[in-house]
Amino acid sequence: PVIAIFASGNGSNFDALIAAKLPMRVGCLICDQADAPVIQRAQGHHIPVQLVNPRDYDTKAEMEKAILAGLSARHVTAILLAGYMRIIGPTLLAAFPRRIVNIHPALLPSFPGRHGIEDAYRAGVTKTGVTIHFIDAGVDTGPVIAQQAVAVLPTDTVEQLANRIHSVEHTLYPQTIRQLIEEGVL
Ligand code: GRF
Repeated sequence: PVIAIFASGNGSNFDALIAAKLPMRVGCLICDQADAPVIQRAQGHHIPVQLVNPRDYDTKAEMEKAILAGLSARHVTAILLAGYMRIIGPTLLAAFPRRIVNIHPALLPSFPGRHGIEDAYRAGVTKTGVTIHFIDAGVDTGPVIAQQAVAVLPTDTVEQLANRIHSVEHTLYPQTIRQLIEEGVL
């Protein structure tokens, strides 16, 4: 497959996906934040970057049409979201049915949304984790592909918990994508 990775920020999951040398070609990075560190990471790997500024478009549909044009030009067949902080709209969903995978730093359906780690920490749960799932029209909903639990220790600060969750992400995401590719799902 030819994969596009969508990211808005740091890009540690982007790096983990690249470092795993998966049996796929990374056709491009789609990024909506001009100053995101993930852009330099992509450039370091000679992966083309398509920067899309939401302010350049009147509607989400128009922005997604511009993204789609870039994806088609690069023959992209599937999308991996890695910290992309926007809801995917009907235009992209229709173009990539069951071909868009997301990673979320909590055990969905618990603690969806932008602050999955902090929300779980504040709720005082003893167990949270990481979810890999196909996306649908909702926020952090859609069929779950894989989950891994992470214990919340009584002594944990939210930073310590976040670090453990991120290190689980960096193995679970590549491992799950490898399996999907080997099974012919992606
Ligand atoms: C990760 O925690 C991921 O689960 C969430 O956004 C974060 C992205 O981190 N969706 P990074 O940019 O990959 O370092």
